[in-house]
Amino acid sequence: MIIRNVKEEEWDEFMRLLERSYGFPSGFFPRHYPYIYSDACRDLSSFYVIEDNGKLVSHIGLFKMKAISFGVSIIMGGIGGVATLPEERGKGYMSALLNHVINVMKKEGIPLSVLWGDRQRYGAFGWEVAGQKQALYITSRSVSKSGIKPIEVSEVKWDDAVPLMRRHYESIPIRVERRWECYKSYESLDPASLGEPPLRIWVSDDGYVISQGSGAARGVLSRPNIVEVASLSNREAELVSGFMKAASVNEAVVHVNAYDEARLGELLKVTSYYVTLPEGVFRINNVYALLKSFEPLLSSRAQERGLKDYEVTLGLRFNNELDKATVFVRGGSVEVTSSEGSGNYIELSERDGVRLILGGPMGYVAKRLKPLTTLLPIPIHIPLLNYV
Ligand SMILES: CC(C)(COP(=O)(O)OP(=O)(O)OC[C@H]1O[C@@H](n2cnc3c(N)ncnc32)[C@H](O)[C@@H]1OP(=O)(O)O)[C@@H](O)C(=O)NCCC(=O)NCCS
Repeated sequence: MIIRNVKEEEWDEFMRLLERSYGFPSGFFPRHYPYIYSDACRDLSSFYVIEDNGKLVSHIGLFKMKAISFGVSIIMGGIGGVATLPEERGKGYMSALLNHVINVMKKEGIPLSVLWGDRQRYGAFGWEVAGQKQALYITSRSVSKSGIKPIEVSEVKWDDAVPLMRRHYESIPIRVERRWECYKSYESLDPASLGEPPLRIWVSDDGYVISQGSGAARGVLSRPNIVEVASLSNREAELVSGFMKAASVNEAVVHVNAYDEARLGELLKVTSYYVTLPEGVFRINNVYALLKSFEPLLSSRAQERGLKDYEVTLGLRFNNELDKATVFVRGGSVEVTSSEGSGNYIELSERDGVRLILGGPMGYVAKRLKPLTTLLPIPIHIPLLNYV
C-alpha cells in the first residue's frame, strides 16, 4: 500500500474512483467544485490517494483555504472527496489517509482543519462539529412588515457579474479567500442536470445576491435558496428584498455567521425566524498557532469586555498526544505562548477544545476556565461557495 499524490495521467481513473465511491454521475466533481477539480484550477498536490496492487483504491483531498476573520488570516486544511471504492471498504484505507493528512497539516503548520461529514466517523480522528451561523428565514410578509424598501436588482450572467461580485465579496468580514477565476461560467455548468437547481445572479450597484432555484426555501439542513449576499454599503436587507420581488420568491433562507454583526444586524430587520447551525466539522492541529494568530482579536475583546488579569494553560488531549497553549491577559492585552508558564493548567479532550475555541455546546465548564470563554469563540465562516 502506497500513499502518494495523484498523477496527471491517472486523472480519469481518479475521477471514476470518486464517482463510483459516491454514486455520482460522470462529470459531477469538476462541475460542482470547479475551484478544486477543473482542468484550469486543480492542484495535484492536494489529492492524496492509496495505490494498492497497481490500482487507486482510496482518496482524501487536502485543500488549503485562506480563512479571513476580522483582518486575521490563517490557512485551513479543507478535507473533501473522502472516498474508498465500494469493494475495498473496511480495510483501513480511509483511516490511513486521514492520519496521513493530519501529519501533513502538522508538518506544514496548518493549525486548523474543516470538513463536512459524520460526527462519529471523523470524531475518532479529532474532528468535531463547531462554529455558529444563523439560518435566517425571510418571507414577503416579514419584508413588508419591516418597512425596508427593496433595491431594484437585475439578473445577469455569472461571468458578467464577476468583477462586481469580487468587489462586494470583500465586505464579508469573516470569509474564505476565493479564486473567482476558478468559477468561470459556473452557472452555465448546469447543475440542474445533476439534480441541483441552477444558480442565478442578481446585481445592483449596492451588491449582489446569488440565489439557487426558484420559489420556496427548503428544509433547515439543505442548502439555502440565497447562497450568498454581499454589499459594500451594508444594504443586504434591501438586496434580499429586491431579489425576492424580482424573482417572485415568497420565502428565503440566508446563512450568516453569528459574529458577522453588521450584516446580521441588517438582515435581522427583515427576518421572521432564525435557527442556529454549526459552520462545519473542525480539527485543531495546533492550538498555540491558532490562538496566537488571533491575539489581536482576543486582545480587543479583553479590553471591550473589561477582562481582569488572568492566565490559563490549555492542554488538548487526543489519544496520547497533548497540544498546549498558554493565554495571559495582562492589563487588557492578550499574549499567547507555547510554554506552560501558567499555574492554571486545564486539560480537555481535543473535541471539547474544538467546541470551546470555535463555538459549540459545552455542558459543564470549570470555573478556572470561565474567563477564557469570555474571549472566545474564534469566528470562522466558510461561505457555501467555498465548501470542499
Ligand atoms: C466513508 C468511506 C470513505 C470509508 O472508507 P474505508 O476505507 O472503508 O474506511 P476504513 O476502512 O478506514 O474504516 C472503516 C470503518 O471503521 C471506522 N473507523 C476507523 N477507524 C476508527 C477508529 N479509530 N475509531 C472508530 N471507528 C473507526 C470508520 O469510521 C469506518 O466506519 P464508517 O464508514 O461507518 O464511518 C467509504 O465508506 C466511502 O467511500 N463511502 C462513500 C463516500 C462517502 O460517504 N464519503 C464520506 C463523505 S463525508
